Amino acid sequence: MVKIFVFVLSVVVSNACFAESEVSFPADWKDWMPVTTPLTKIGALPGCDFDSSSLPPIYQETVETYCSVRPEGPGAVAVLVTSSETKAYQDKLGKMQDGPVMILHLKELSVLFVTGYKEGKPTYGAYKEDGTDIASVDPSSPLSMATCRTCHTGYEAFCVNGQCASSSY
Ligand code: HEC
Repeated sequence: MVKIFVFVLSVVVSNACFAESEVSFPADWKDWMPVTTPLTKIGALPGCDFDSSSLPPIYQETVETYCSVRPEGPGAVAVLVTSSETKAYQDKLGKMQDGPVMILHLKELSVLFVTGYKEGKPTYGAYKEDGTDIASVDPSSPLSMATCRTCHTGYEAFCVNGQCASSSY
């Protein structure tokens, strides 16, 4: 009886405390291909005093969501795509292989925002560069998969099946 109780408790605690990225950590992310996007052209995610009014609404909301992580904002970014899917990224048809495929690298924070697919549907993850899962189970957190999904799926005219940026060769 005690053993069963301890088991149930440990399941409850692990679900409550452990972060829950939906897509696995891409251990080979350093070999992925950097691509040029509107945000990488800007170069960085700015702080909250940045005037983002000339940017499309989705970019304004992205700045708003993440600008307060540090006074100067999240800072330098890169977008990386797994090498077999770079063509699919350029095409932006929302058709990519299952598993992790795209990364928004917040370089100064050593954080990787990862998008992947499961049975063709977008899935999200947030990791430190060393693979520590930092996704939050609190839906209101900027690091929750619900927050990623609200924006990446919510701006349907802008994002195609989870991919938001457009890139050119
Ligand atoms: C408020 C909107 C918003 C939220 C919230 C958001 N993103 Fe994004 N994301 C964007 C935009 C806009 C881009 C395109 C930036 C660019 O030009 O490169 C982007 C780019 C990306 C990319 C690069 C591939 C692509 O879509 O072009 C990944 C990967 C990514 N986000 C993952 C995440 C994850 C994971 C989360 C949650 C932890 C998240 N994002 C939260 C708006 C958002």
